[in-house]
Amino acid sequence: MKNTIIITGANRGLGEAFVDVLIKDDTCFIISLSRSLSENQKAYSSKRFHFLEMDLSQDNVSLKLEALKGLITDESVYFINNASIIEPVVSIENLDESAMDKTLAVNVKSTMVITNYLLKNYNTNSLTFVNISSGAAKRAISNWSLYCASKAFVEMFFNVAESEYQQHRFFNINPGVMDTGMQKSLRQSDFPDVENFKDLQKENQLKQPIDVAKDILETIKING
Ligand SMILES: NC(=O)c1ccc[n+]([C@@H]2O[C@H](COP(=O)([O-])OP(=O)(O)OC[C@H]3O[C@@H](n4cnc5c(N)ncnc54)[C@H](OP(=O)(O)O)[C@@H]3O)[C@@H](O)[C@H]2O)c1
Repeated sequence: MKNTIIITGANRGLGEAFVDVLIKDDTCFIISLSRSLSENQKAYSSKRFHFLEMDLSQDNVSLKLEALKGLITDESVYFINNASIIEPVVSIENLDESAMDKTLAVNVKSTMVITNYLLKNYNTNSLTFVNISSGAAKRAISNWSLYCASKAFVEMFFNVAESEYQQHRFFNINPGVMDTGMQKSLRQSDFPDVENFKDLQKENQLKQPIDVAKDILETIKING
């Protein structure tokens, strides 16, 4: 096996689509850091797919990552930082502290912990870090403060990592607006721009996650 691909939030949406593509490439061993498995994933061979159950909002992420020690040797390692939450979609005065903590834990801290772990333990491997970002990292959208700020944070974290570790590869990738659970929940949310997001769906303009996954994997060139 030449490549190990670690994906957060691999049970649905874009994360699941990455697995659907990569499972067909027999040079790839996939590690899902997720809270659950999709139906298909339950049947995958342990030679090709490993489920490391992980709730990224919890404090035990670094402890759970120790399980990677038995799974990774000297192969190329890819980390796809995919899991993310957008809720709550509310104005800043209506945020509560637990929501702030949760977004920081899932969208920001878990990414830093996993990146730190891989750099600390596998610095001599070939490492590729792929941050699934968003246009919201650069565009302020009313009622999305936690999401926009968290996306901007991780982009800059990756930019600094890139400048520190020039032997490794770092990507910040905006996947565009996709037909996933995140869009569904946004269409049911209350924010000034919501009609535009409803129109994107009505006009069939949402990208399919499988197409996005293929494009991103082409960009980062696994085996390339
Ligand atoms: N959809 C879009 O239009 C769009 C646009 C721009 C950027 N993006 C970005 O693309 C990426 C994928 O988004 P998506 O649309 O596929 O989102 P999604 O359908 O909402 O899926 C989110 C994924 O994150 C996981 N996740 C959430 N909280 C978690 C936690 N505490 N611990 C572990 N996993 C957790 C979910 O797992 P559970 O099932 O366990 O909740 C799920 O697998 C995200 O980074 C998002 O910001 C999406």
